[in-house]
Amino acid sequence: MADEDNLQLADRVKGLSESPTIAVMDKARKLKAAGQPVVDLSGGDPDFVTAPHVTEAAISALKDGFTHYTPSRGFPELLKAIAYKTEHENGAAYDAKKEILVTPGAKTALYTAAQAIINPGDEAILFDPCWVSYAPCIELAGGKCVYVTMDNHTTLAVLKANLQKAVSGRTRIVILNTPNNPSGFVWSKEQLEVVADFVQSHNLYVLSDEIYEKLIFEDQPHVSIASLPGMTRNTLVLNGLSKSHAMTGWRMGWLLGPEKVISEMLKIHSHSSTCAASFVQKGAIAALEGSQEYTNYMVGRYKTRRDNLAAGLNKIPGIHCEVPAGAFYAFPEISHTGLSDMDFASRLLEEELVAVTPGSAFGPGGVGHIRLSFANSDEMLAEAVIRIEKFVSIL
Ligand SMILES: Cc1ncc(COP(=O)(O)O)c(C=O)c1O
Repeated sequence: MADEDNLQLADRVKGLSESPTIAVMDKARKLKAAGQPVVDLSGGDPDFVTAPHVTEAAISALKDGFTHYTPSRGFPELLKAIAYKTEHENGAAYDAKKEILVTPGAKTALYTAAQAIINPGDEAILFDPCWVSYAPCIELAGGKCVYVTMDNHTTLAVLKANLQKAVSGRTRIVILNTPNNPSGFVWSKEQLEVVADFVQSHNLYVLSDEIYEKLIFEDQPHVSIASLPGMTRNTLVLNGLSKSHAMTGWRMGWLLGPEKVISEMLKIHSHSSTCAASFVQKGAIAALEGSQEYTNYMVGRYKTRRDNLAAGLNKIPGIHCEVPAGAFYAFPEISHTGLSDMDFASRLLEEELVAVTPGSAFGPGGVGHIRLSFANSDEMLAEAVIRIEKFVSIL
């Protein structure tokens, strides 16, 4: 019999915790399974079904025998569709044969990019607050994260100065996300120009996570930093279909970047995932090449939900919610209720059965906030506001 206490695990997992958003989702799922009427606003998982033409394409692929390994990089037709989309919609030209890697979900591409770029002791600059998986992916490669605050109130001069303060001889990459999860902040061209100048002058990569690019509710265009002069050489564009096409469970993402990085990532990918699922890739081609009407419909619905949710939250004493310009999250400040974001989120789930994510999971800039996903039905969102109001009223 093995003495389990003396069986050793790797140091790299010692400080690692499970994704906080997935942890809250799992807790909410368990409560639901036990028959509790939970309102779950914790995850970034659209409540819409995937468009029928996409599902049909995947079913046909299965019936036609596309049930085997594909080229590790991805089917050539899919690579071409991604290159075409990125050039025509985002103004950034990457070579379909050498500068794209298709992965099972964008998260896998992020993890693989960190493995290809970061050496132990290297540093990554993250804009704060930011999505929960950037730091663990950098840290699993042995790297360290340095946070730079970025929100609606950050001027160009402050952004420039903060980047200069954050950089060191060990900095290798800057990770930015527009529109931003959790805050909904959408980067302007002028702000991206500051980052572009910075990465070019320090010879760094920037990973531009554009997974929410379709979800912008204001009259503000999505700008890819890769489209700025000379920036395809420095930029890794991370994207996928989870959010734009309600395809989270399909696991379909990709990364575009210079061949030097992609070819190393391809080696790692060929030994880890091998390839994204064959029939999922066929569905992805249909999603990219087919009608985008369904995406436009979802964006319209999200906008209405955003407006209603922000208005409802702002009526509750002690809660202040800036109206997010993009993505599908509200990120209200709750510190004036007197609770920490951790206590607020855990008590809200226990006492009112509403699952939200504590803001501190998203970095120091998230402290005192909670994140609510409005990728949920109007009824659920209205019910959440009623329960939060009740919860706050008895604090
Ligand atoms: C900012 C951001 N990037 C990337 C992802 C990963 O998406 P997926 O792995 O489903 O493609 C998510 C998912 O929540 C996200 O919020």
